[in-house]
Amino acid sequence: MTTAMTATTRATTTAGRLGLDVEAIQEGIDGRWSLPAHAYHDPAIHEFELDAIFSRRWQYFAPRESLAEPGSVVTGDVGALPVVVTRGTDGALHGFLNVCRHRGYRVVDGDCQKSRLQCGYHAWTYHLDGSLARAPGSEPDPTFRAEEMGLLPVAVDVWAQGVFVNPDPDAVPFLEAHRRLAEVVAARGFDDDPANYRLHRAITTVNPANWKLWYDNGVECYHCRHIHGSSFAAAYDVGGDSYQWDTCDTFSHSHFEPGEPGDGDDGVMRSNSYCSIQTFPGNHAVQQDDFMYMARIVPTGPESCEFVCHYFAHVDADPERVDRWIDLWDMTFSEDADAVGVQQRNLRTGRLERMRYIAESEGPVLFFSRLIWDAYREALEA
Ligand code: FES
Ligand SMILES: [Fe+2]
Repeated sequence: MTTAMTATTRATTTAGRLGLDVEAIQEGIDGRWSLPAHAYHDPAIHEFELDAIFSRRWQYFAPRESLAEPGSVVTGDVGALPVVVTRGTDGALHGFLNVCRHRGYRVVDGDCQKSRLQCGYHAWTYHLDGSLARAPGSEPDPTFRAEEMGLLPVAVDVWAQGVFVNPDPDAVPFLEAHRRLAEVVAARGFDDDPANYRLHRAITTVNPANWKLWYDNGVECYHCRHIHGSSFAAAYDVGGDSYQWDTCDTFSHSHFEPGEPGDGDDGVMRSNSYCSIQTFPGNHAVQQDDFMYMARIVPTGPESCEFVCHYFAHVDADPERVDRWIDLWDMTFSEDADAVGVQQRNLRTGRLERMRYIAESEGPVLFFSRLIWDAYREALEA
């Protein structure tokens, strides 16, 4: 009883500190409203989300092929955490915080090929499996336990063309966390064979908006015909009934029903197959005809995020055509960045208390709002 009361009191205190009226928000979410506006710019909420959401879920990290050879090393941020993933001499993938166990400096800078990882500050050196190989000058210290000073692990897994990271080292495997994914991938004909696509280009965009606004934008096409008239909406049948979406426990997916193959007479490229899979929180895997991309969102602040995107070309694709698709997507993302930047500014006015979603057109947005709110509640009650 005492423990339960304490947990409840703690949850109420934390919710109060964050300005979260749990009952009102629950009612709002059930009624198709968004989280309150301050959840899109408050630094305390941002910190809370980094722990409640990003520190314990799978996030797309890198193309598999960039970690194919023993000695491959790739670095990047996952949530707020600097991460390094290696392919060891044992052939296995290993993931760690890119944080030296000595005094916290960065162990690896950028992507590279290495046989050992040596910190640039005082030269502590680690094996590719994260264990400490050498700490210069530690030899005379009888209390120093090298076997206890390995890099701090994160979980690593692979799916489709991507390597995924979960900062929680005890996380269940990616496909266990997304139990219905394999079934949907098979049903939609999404090609998850890594042999069929090659990395074509990597682009990271910086967006002047909270990560939730960017993600919401990426999982609905209600806006497509209005702001993407000469980009996305020219290539896809966004106005008809062919756009379909669905949600599955931990992810949403959408597609256009296949139309006539080939480009239009006007020279505009047209896609004959499009499937987008969006796993919580912030991962995209989009595939069509001859190219695909995989991406994650890095929440870099309460009012900014990065979109780390890797474009892949099918092994039989015409590279020039893939370049044109990428140009089209770049234009689309630039238009999206403008839109969410305006939203971000306007959510700070204090006059718009929350946003109202339309269930039919914005189902995945509503779905992700619920997942975010579930994660809030889980963290508040933990
Ligand atoms: S912080 Fe890495 S060796 Fe000192
Ligand atoms: Fe868009």
